[in-house]
Amino acid sequence: MTRRLETDEPAGDETRPEEEGTSLLNRRSLLAGAASMMGTIMLQSVTGSAEAATPVAQDDPTRVPGKIPSPYGQRSAFETATRKLRAQSASLTPLQDSHGILTPSALHFERHHNGVPTINPAHHRLLVHGLVDQPWTFTLDDLKRFPAVSRLAFIECSGNSAIEWRRPTGKTVQETHGLTSTSEWTGVALKTLLREVGMSPEASWMLAEGSDAAAMTRSLPLDSVLEEALVCYAQNGEPLRPEQGYPLRLVIPGWEGNTCIKWLRRLKLGRAPFMTREETSHYTDLMPDGTARQFTMIMDAKSVITAPSGGQRIQQGFIEIRGLAWSGRGRITEVEVSVDGGRSWQRAVLQDPVLPKCHTRFYLPWRWNGEDVILQSRCQDETGYRQPDHAALVAVRGTNSFYHYNAIQSWQIAADGRVSHVQS
Ligand code: CO
Repeated sequence: MTRRLETDEPAGDETRPEEEGTSLLNRRSLLAGAASMMGTIMLQSVTGSAEAATPVAQDDPTRVPGKIPSPYGQRSAFETATRKLRAQSASLTPLQDSHGILTPSALHFERHHNGVPTINPAHHRLLVHGLVDQPWTFTLDDLKRFPAVSRLAFIECSGNSAIEWRRPTGKTVQETHGLTSTSEWTGVALKTLLREVGMSPEASWMLAEGSDAAAMTRSLPLDSVLEEALVCYAQNGEPLRPEQGYPLRLVIPGWEGNTCIKWLRRLKLGRAPFMTREETSHYTDLMPDGTARQFTMIMDAKSVITAPSGGQRIQQGFIEIRGLAWSGRGRITEVEVSVDGGRSWQRAVLQDPVLPKCHTRFYLPWRWNGEDVILQSRCQDETGYRQPDHAALVAVRGTNSFYHYNAIQSWQIAADGRVSHVQS
């Protein structure tokens, strides 16, 4: 069940409210809104801008020539969505303000272990060595001569939603889920580069190393990454942002974000994991019996309602419930939404395109009648894996873990329309 372009045939069994011949928005509140907008315009004509921080709009943009073209674009001064900083080492994407499946490069989440380096691309090199016939040092110009590959893929920090293990309340979706973003990534296929240097048949693991001040380094099993990994120099049609690894980043669709090594400077092939600091100091999952899961690389299926979500306030009447679902194992095949705290579920509409290892946008038309309710979403991917609820996840993993939290998220709507983050 997917939402298609309007030129396509109707997608099937979902009921879209505009097909029912009913008004989506309350007619009286629309009229009231129009009246208050007129009031605002008249007030601004008399007094000018009400606040210094508010950009000044033209009273009538049809009466004055607009701005001339600019060399590099900016968003409207009226738009204010920003990443939210977490300590000195991360920032979170404002999912509550996002539309569609792409994340603007300027709002892609960040996570780095010792800051964002400033790298001159003319001096940057990628060394590929170890179990290869011919070790080689590539410049960026060299890499751009290879056949280019582009694909859309989400990158999610394995620590995304980590606070949910201990179940705090009162958070926004940016705070609970903002460490995931989707971009179009462009570069060279890893297998093309490894063919060029002559990968030894004995090679089974690859070390990837960044040139940041942490020299961020991970060991990757070659069998699993060879088919899809990209050595990327571009994001959303332009060179990578510095925070996303400029000038070179490894992207492994569906794998935890830390394996997508930024500021990539070295790939080394070997016979075993290299057991770097990051394989133990981070990125292991402590189980209830005291053992730890190691090399847990794939991000399991997960979904969240982005609107209405924590911190927002809604009005009675028509609400389009909107959210994102994604899986590191392939395509999302189904998203269901509950408006009664999980007692019953309805299939959401999936917006085309539904791509593997990429954010998928879902919608469910709904009417809120002013009752206290709990909204939830759950998804399934093409392997048949179903997103668990909190109790099912904790039954398997305990509560010692920090990484890989993917349980169903609950938003409570109170009678006054305020939306808050709750346990359920
Ligand atoms: Co992991």
